[in-house]
Amino acid sequence: MVPMNQWIKIKAPATVANMVCGFDILGFAVNNPYDEMEMQMVERLPNEASVKIINIDHYNLPTDPEKNVAGAALIALIEEYAERFASTRPAGVPNNVGFDVKINKLIKPGSGVGSSAASSAGAVVGANHLLGKPFSNDDLVRFAMNGEKLASGVKHADNIAPCIFGGVTLVRSIFPLEIIALPSPELHVTIVHPQIEVKTSDARSILKHQVLLKDAIKQWGNIAGLVAGLMKKDYDLIGRSLEDVIIEPVRSILIPGFDALKIACKKAGALGGGISGSGPSIFMLSKGKETALAVEAEMIKLYTGLGLAHHTYVTTINEKGVEVIN
Ligand code: HSE
Repeated sequence: MVPMNQWIKIKAPATVANMVCGFDILGFAVNNPYDEMEMQMVERLPNEASVKIINIDHYNLPTDPEKNVAGAALIALIEEYAERFASTRPAGVPNNVGFDVKINKLIKPGSGVGSSAASSAGAVVGANHLLGKPFSNDDLVRFAMNGEKLASGVKHADNIAPCIFGGVTLVRSIFPLEIIALPSPELHVTIVHPQIEVKTSDARSILKHQVLLKDAIKQWGNIAGLVAGLMKKDYDLIGRSLEDVIIEPVRSILIPGFDALKIACKKAGALGGGISGSGPSIFMLSKGKETALAVEAEMIKLYTGLGLAHHTYVTTINEKGVEVIN
């Protein structure tokens, strides 16, 4: 437990959800970009809001805790803390516990690399640390999903789980929650963020609600192949399995140059890749940094050619998840 009114620092990584074929179930955390946060535990008066959000970036996100993803996640945590730990609360935790949260978003909101998940996950991991870790990682994922519901209208954990656990995760089930941490071979990740806006809620609303059995069979094969490839460290199998016949054909029309980019990146040596989360970012996995840099060069060439502002990252899989720094 950390004494009241003592600030801690938190680093919350960006995440790539879906991993192409695993819509809403697969995801991984990356080392760059990440959000920075600071938190302290405080005592609130009964008429005060339990969570205070202080934005120290320029995105102007809501500071009303009920409208802020970190706030929504923390409110769920505080409510459950009051229910479960009323009689076992340590002396240093006030009866009317609250949190002050400073958020410096280095992950641009709406970029498709888990910006909202980083805020929600960072906040609940920070609160758990301040409280002396009464909650499990699965509990924290449940709380943080309230932030995702606020951001996209639906509870999903494919960004939250890798953000909290680190590495690659499989969300086998949400209700009841079952998260499986998967091993990953050394992979380099190249991400391009074309500067257009794709809202997750819009990118979800255009999806078809029914799939053909033949497409479902292909998708199951790819998901199983990807998981097997990760476990066996079989890079070729990973590459072949990065195929999505259900979501990508619908969503890719929202991203200029998507098909050409994929072809160019694979020609440069990428194992494969696709839309990161709901887009507009696109990610590619490569074996080796040199290839990842060659892939980045292709991304820059394509979007420069299209006259579309963009930002790239060459990074690796983050195995730690959210970190409390002091
Ligand atoms: N699985 C989600 C989606 C991730 O693709 O809509 C975005 O938050």
